[in-house]
Amino acid sequence: MSPGAGPPAAAGFTPPPYPYERLRELTARAVARFGSGGVVDCSIGTPGDPPPADVLAALASSGTERGYPTSPGSPAYRAAAAGWLHRRFGVSVDPELEVAACVGTKEFVASTAQYLHLRTPDRDTVLYPAVSYPTYAMGAALAGCRAVAVAERSTGGPDLASIDDGDAARALVLWTNSPSNPTGMLTDLDAVAGWGRSHGVPVFSDECYAEFTWDGPPRSILESGSDGVVAVHSLSKRSNLAGVRAGFYAGDPGLVGYLLDMRRHGGLMVPGPVQAAAAVALADDDHVVEQRRRYRDRLQFLSGVLGAAGLPVSLPAGGFYLWVPVPASMHGSASGPAGGWVVAEALALGAGLLVSPGEFYGPDGAGFVRVAVVQSMERLELVAERLAGTDLSAVAVGSRQPSAP
Ligand SMILES: Cc1ncc(COP(=O)(O)O)c(C=O)c1O
Repeated sequence: MSPGAGPPAAAGFTPPPYPYERLRELTARAVARFGSGGVVDCSIGTPGDPPPADVLAALASSGTERGYPTSPGSPAYRAAAAGWLHRRFGVSVDPELEVAACVGTKEFVASTAQYLHLRTPDRDTVLYPAVSYPTYAMGAALAGCRAVAVAERSTGGPDLASIDDGDAARALVLWTNSPSNPTGMLTDLDAVAGWGRSHGVPVFSDECYAEFTWDGPPRSILESGSDGVVAVHSLSKRSNLAGVRAGFYAGDPGLVGYLLDMRRHGGLMVPGPVQAAAAVALADDDHVVEQRRRYRDRLQFLSGVLGAAGLPVSLPAGGFYLWVPVPASMHGSASGPAGGWVVAEALALGAGLLVSPGEFYGPDGAGFVRVAVVQSMERLELVAERLAGTDLSAVAVGSRQPSAP
């Protein structure tokens, strides 16, 4: 969404097409060529590996089905989240005052601006990374607010000096995401927290990929203290539990307490059996060690396969995505969105590999595709076989250029 974008009051708001719906046509063409079992879907970051068995057992045996669950999360859930934060990042938070549950983090990302705007109606701006998960900007639209993209430094993280003073004065929130989806870059979270504190802007740090940090130890914004900041975490990626919807947010007690109240009034509740299962998952680290190994192996393998096929890509500093630049030869005269779509089409129709065109993550991502290594090594080997001897960078732009919807 471009700076200043938001629902025009007179026209009313029309939701844009959901990004992955836009891959439907290309998916159908790949299925026509390779069969539905032959397509290797690395377009969406949905985990493909199993969650721990004891977590599934807890889901089925909690005995919590009859009563309403507590909206902020059971004491066990909040204590498990606080315990994990302490083990992983060495930070101490009060489970009652500084931690609360959310129904997976997407709904939290999408709804937080709306609640912050109700509390501070004279502020109307959401600052978010220019190349990012689309829900930060959508949260601004859903709140009737302005979404202002913050340029990113080439090494990762926001270019804080580039934020306009007027936008900072109007900001309800600055979103940051490290490791980043889609770029895999890391952010200097201390610097971002410092900027937020000195400008009076709450910083919400989406850390759902923290367990998959490859360069150095995992980092949380809470390492700089909880004043004015909230860390957002998810069980979806850490424990392959995207289907059960469990996450939490932790940090500044004023922000957490306000959001917890608003969300309770709004009826947002993590189901009781899910809370029980999430507490078990948060208490265990062994399954994460195993998952980390899987992603690391696949990132290495697939980056080699793509490089050999004319799509060189660096390994990410974190996360489980390859952020693949479109080779200059494939940009053609039609720069802009087409570059990523050309590569996405070439991979889908040449190798049955579905990836996301980078413009799903903002206009600055147009010259990239994102590949999620969520498929098994066996499936990735199938892609390698199909790509053997191919030079995708030689694919001509023009006749093969798909219509970017
Ligand atoms: C950066 C980022 N934040 C949040 C989410 C939402 O995850 P969930 O709602 O499953 O917790 C995702 C999912 O892909 C993501 O990539």
